[in-house]
Amino acid sequence: MDTPTDTVPDASDDERLAPATREFLVREQGLLIDGRRVPAADGRTLPVHDPATGRRIATVACASAADVDLAVRAARRAFEGDWARTTTPERSRAMWRLAELCEAHHRTFRELEILDNGMPWNLGEMMAPLAAEFLRYYGGWPTKIEGRTIPASPMGRRPGETLTYTLREPIGVVGAITPWNSPLAMAVLKLAPALAAGCTLVLKPAELTPLSALLLGDLALEAGIPPGVFNVVPGFGEDAGAALAAHEGVDKIAFTGSTEVGRAIVRAAAGNLKKVSLELGGKSPVVVFADADLQAVIPAATFAAFFLQGQNCMAGTRLFVHERVHDAVVEGIVAFTRTLPVGPGLDPRNVFGPLISREQRERVLGYVQTGRAQGATLALGGRALDAPGWFAEPTIFTGTRPDMSIVREEIFGPVLCVQRFGDGDLASVARAANETIYGLSGSVWTRDVSVAHRMVRLIDAGQVSVNCHAAVDPSIPFGGNRQSGWGREMGEEALDLYLKSKAVTVAL
Ligand code: NAI
Ligand code: MG
Repeated sequence: MDTPTDTVPDASDDERLAPATREFLVREQGLLIDGRRVPAADGRTLPVHDPATGRRIATVACASAADVDLAVRAARRAFEGDWARTTTPERSRAMWRLAELCEAHHRTFRELEILDNGMPWNLGEMMAPLAAEFLRYYGGWPTKIEGRTIPASPMGRRPGETLTYTLREPIGVVGAITPWNSPLAMAVLKLAPALAAGCTLVLKPAELTPLSALLLGDLALEAGIPPGVFNVVPGFGEDAGAALAAHEGVDKIAFTGSTEVGRAIVRAAAGNLKKVSLELGGKSPVVVFADADLQAVIPAATFAAFFLQGQNCMAGTRLFVHERVHDAVVEGIVAFTRTLPVGPGLDPRNVFGPLISREQRERVLGYVQTGRAQGATLALGGRALDAPGWFAEPTIFTGTRPDMSIVREEIFGPVLCVQRFGDGDLASVARAANETIYGLSGSVWTRDVSVAHRMVRLIDAGQVSVNCHAAVDPSIPFGGNRQSGWGREMGEEALDLYLKSKAVTVAL
């Protein structure tokens, strides 16, 4: 829906932006299919807004099922053609060239991410280097994806009469569906391991944040990745996304987003039983014991909760603090949060930006209302900011209980819920931390190595950190237990999502 501020001149006249960024914003942004930028078959477009101002910054073509079909066909041709003929060292070099191009365009990526998603400057600044690291890490894999020889004796054959080995082959055409919270990172997280495995892709970025994925697609061509290997089709979830998830020509869907849509993806994938990996929601616990280094805990727990305004799946939104240090930790976090400069990411001083949309802010403020109504104590924040854009205050609730909806549900906004615990056994602390349908990440804060490692075993999550929260690196597997998802992205394990093994036996 267009907002009244749409009539304000677009960001292409903003002197703070690099000329290349301004040029990108005013350009006609077609879909990227088979190496060419093309309008949508039905001519539809999608307005793109800056959440820090509410104004329109760009317009991109909006894909529907017909465009998705063309993109899937192009990806299939590339999978069977140019990409299949590319040697593994060539695949590596193309990915490394793309890494270099990401770095060369780091300023434009930073500005696009800030304008499109609303992320603070310092996060925007990290994104192109992060993308490059993923492409370099996975660019090293094509030459190292190996099968095995197996000393089998099928049908009672004697040793030496048969040779059995496995091939690890690319799974085929991948449909990638990504959310708006870190658009470039989310795209690369799927692109890099899929390319390393020899797959081709159709990426449908979130309708709210399509820009950086389109630039990445342009750069992939410039890097020498053949046309059709990486197609980008911005569009709406219920339309382009649903068409991709159901498409018979797609062999695998890699999805990041809400748990609810994750379930819809699984249903849509049932038609041809395509493989599915899911990176879904979280409600991660941060558990602080009485002996923890509070100087470290206070800033880290603050950023765990408010990183990207809490709009990230790893957000440490449930803080469990031992009663002996509870008040000191809460006071420390409240005081530290008050010092965080809030405002548009284009100003490098700001570290806390807007929420992604008006709807998202309403959703978050609705949870704040519910939290108060259900008896939680508001220690900080809780209001929208009286400024342009979709800003909301960082919010801290104390005295929260496991049955409150603010504690049970993923809010995906800057709302931290604090609970206290006493001197019970570790199992009961872990039970409280695990009292959620999610299991993505969590952290434990203590100087006692025994407590730390016992808690690591007790917490049900794909990632548990000790004295830090949410370790992100291309080499570290990442993914969720329970309703946080299926599979592990990142690290060597992510390659398994894009490969299938073939067992071969030769009678000699
Ligand atoms: P969403 O799950 O609806 O969107 C994620 C992606 O899925 C987007 O590209 C969207 O277009 C696509 N999509 C939506 N419906 C689809 C369908 N039926 N078939 C195929 N693709 C579809 O997330 P949304 O609406 O942006 O945010 C809603 C809530 O989801 C957030 O408030 C948050 O709680 C959660 N969320 C969690 C994320 C995570 O990383 N864990 C990321 C984004 C949202
Ligand atoms: Mg949605």
